[in-house]
Amino acid sequence: MKNSVLSGMRPTGKLHLGNLYGALANWIKLQDEEYDRFYFVADWHALTTGFNESKEIPDNTIEMVADWLAFGLDHEKDTIFVQSLVKEHAELFLLLSMITPVGWLERVPSYKDQIAQLGKSKTSNYGFLGYPVLMAADIIIYKASFVPVGIDQVAHLEFTRELVRHFNNNVEKEVFVEPKPLLTEVPKILGLDGRKMSKSYDNAIYLSDTKEETDKKLRVMFTDPRRKRKTDPGVAEECGIFMLHKIFTEKDKQEEIKQACANATIGCVECKKMLSKNLNDKLEPVRQKREELLNKQDSIKEILIEGSKKAQKVAKNTLDEVKDAIFSNRRIG
Ligand code: TRP
Repeated sequence: MKNSVLSGMRPTGKLHLGNLYGALANWIKLQDEEYDRFYFVADWHALTTGFNESKEIPDNTIEMVADWLAFGLDHEKDTIFVQSLVKEHAELFLLLSMITPVGWLERVPSYKDQIAQLGKSKTSNYGFLGYPVLMAADIIIYKASFVPVGIDQVAHLEFTRELVRHFNNNVEKEVFVEPKPLLTEVPKILGLDGRKMSKSYDNAIYLSDTKEETDKKLRVMFTDPRRKRKTDPGVAEECGIFMLHKIFTEKDKQEEIKQACANATIGCVECKKMLSKNLNDKLEPVRQKREELLNKQDSIKEILIEGSKKAQKVAKNTLDEVKDAIFSNRRIG
């Protein structure tokens, strides 16, 4: 049996360069490896803190998956699916809830962080407390060995590992494997205002932005504040524009820019123009593919429905094993 990798994203809608060259690039890198790969839309997780925005979830799902596919995720090689279309996740979530100590959930760092960030009204629900249990179910129902995620999700993985040990102990059987996070290096990507690129800061460049919109955003983007005048030397490594050059510009050209910035022989305007060209050249075919995909949304839905059926076969097998372990092979039906 092949090892599996699995990861998911909440359906937040269209993706920005930070999402694409952070998380998604790492998913795509795994395509050549010998794993069964599962990638899914965590729409139930979106409901844990956003029930009042539930109407947006279907459109956000389509937008996000269009970005996945345009950027290179391949539904022939990867199983791409929607969490809520594989009901087995919910059943395993329910079963795991029966053995999950509430204290463990209250100690997960994101629990307190999210309450502080989003406020009590969005987070004082039972489903939100159970977020890590649902996430554990998502992962272990496919017996995933590796989970490519960002550093912010590591505590959830640690929780999953603990829950796996606890469950296996309870049923006295090694039903589940302990998944490991796959933390690959992600490039640092700043937004237009010099803070981390993020949808909630309204400082992001999206794949869905046109060439013109992208150019306009780059023109107003923060550069190294040391460079008040063109004659002031800068530190490229600390400039948001250079961070993007590192993704879109050839290596030897990057070196030249770094030097020219340090010697103040290149201005920020010129540096941005070079980036605009390279970035647009790379993104244009991806933007086109995205457009094409969004023009036939039914085919995106079809991919998700087919993918969910494929995922469901695997999930169902594991769930049967789980129930056999719990009811010591004597379950009825
Ligand atoms: N919690 C993840 C996030 O916010 C999304 C997620 C849900 C996930 N279930 C998962 C990621 C399982 C990896 C594996 O990004």
